[in-house]
Amino acid sequence: MKPINVGLLGIGTVGGGVYAVLERNADEIARRAGREIRITVVADRDIERARRLTNGAVKLTDDALGVTRDPDIDIVVELIGGETLAKDLALSAIENGKHFVTANKALLAVHGNEIFAAARRRDVMVAFEAAVAGGIPIIKALRESLSANRIEWVAGIINGTTNFILSEMRDKGLPFAEVLRQAQRLGYAEADPTFDIEGVDAAHKATIMSAIAFGIPMQFDKAHVEGISRLESVDIGYAGQLGYRIKLLGIARKRPEGIELRVHPTLVHANKLLANVEGAMNAVLVQADAVGATLYYGKGAGAEPTASAVIADLVDITRLHTADPEHRVPHLAFQPDQVLDVPVLPIGEALTSFYLRMRVLDKPGVLADITRILADSDISIDAMIQREAGEGESQTDIIMLTHQTVEKNAEAAIARIEALDSVQGKVTRLRLETL
Ligand code: HSE
Repeated sequence: MKPINVGLLGIGTVGGGVYAVLERNADEIARRAGREIRITVVADRDIERARRLTNGAVKLTDDALGVTRDPDIDIVVELIGGETLAKDLALSAIENGKHFVTANKALLAVHGNEIFAAARRRDVMVAFEAAVAGGIPIIKALRESLSANRIEWVAGIINGTTNFILSEMRDKGLPFAEVLRQAQRLGYAEADPTFDIEGVDAAHKATIMSAIAFGIPMQFDKAHVEGISRLESVDIGYAGQLGYRIKLLGIARKRPEGIELRVHPTLVHANKLLANVEGAMNAVLVQADAVGATLYYGKGAGAEPTASAVIADLVDITRLHTADPEHRVPHLAFQPDQVLDVPVLPIGEALTSFYLRMRVLDKPGVLADITRILADSDISIDAMIQREAGEGESQTDIIMLTHQTVEKNAEAAIARIEALDSVQGKVTRLRLETL
């Protein structure tokens, strides 16, 4: 059978992995796909690197847009990253009737609605397994394998850089900046590591998962995004004393009122599997009504793990490209006319538990004042520790864990606590999830 011709845009770390794995496993892949999948053209700004990696076996060009218009190409794979050029390439490839594969989470979270609409008009597939959690087949699981279920929530460690930083800070007591440099050396961090550290990368991925889990449009601009740059080592320590670890979670939860879509540092009990996902590994926990909880674990970045996901998309497209478009898997898992505009709730409406750390004067009645405010707000305390004040010290720390409450209710109570004369400065609050 005629081979499928692929145009590869970008042969950096992931592109190089795709090229190498496709070549190494060509026979095995063709046995699955039913025909050969071959990269016939590579576009990259660095032609010398492209030549080195491909041994001169394919056509090379620095004109990525030209590849999207090439009549010999069946599938365009975009591994350039960023939003602007990548969007132009996506729309051009689609307009020219090419199926489109991308690992670009920012592109889909921000421009996905426009890209999928264009793809529907031209009856082409857009596949993006590599955009969320690298080599873990979470898109396949959410879009296809769990299609019997009402998905209730998805919670994931979906940024390896921040998970690596949090693990190293906790285990080795290393400062944030030093561990970040290490993550960059190891190649986990994005080119601009603020995307990792400030939670933006995880929010892109959570946005994509929310869309295919619940059949809603991409709504990245509504996501609540907090990273780990303001997280203090002291809180990692106190959380540990209380039996918890702090993870940067991406959470998408469906509630009758709307969707919670949030990324933030989160206390997770140490006896949960998610709490034990260490280093640069990723894991996604999905709660669904029929199957219950399922957990997906693996490498969320790196050349060959990500290539594994990209090539799986190439195989899927190769199998389905002659099928009637009506019979393919819909881009967002739900039929296009069934994608519902369910609102993403503001963070004040989130249902969550809290870790609170407050610096207080060590004198009678202080704890009673604080607990009275929480009781008045109907917030129940789950656990508490007070640091023993040092010799001659007049202040100490109180750390509390609360049961679940509506966030704006907790915020109102915290404002009243901060107004007490006996409470010094701001109350540190982190969210806690029972999962
Ligand atoms: N920068 C990402 C991470 C890599 O740290 O997980 C893949 O998205």
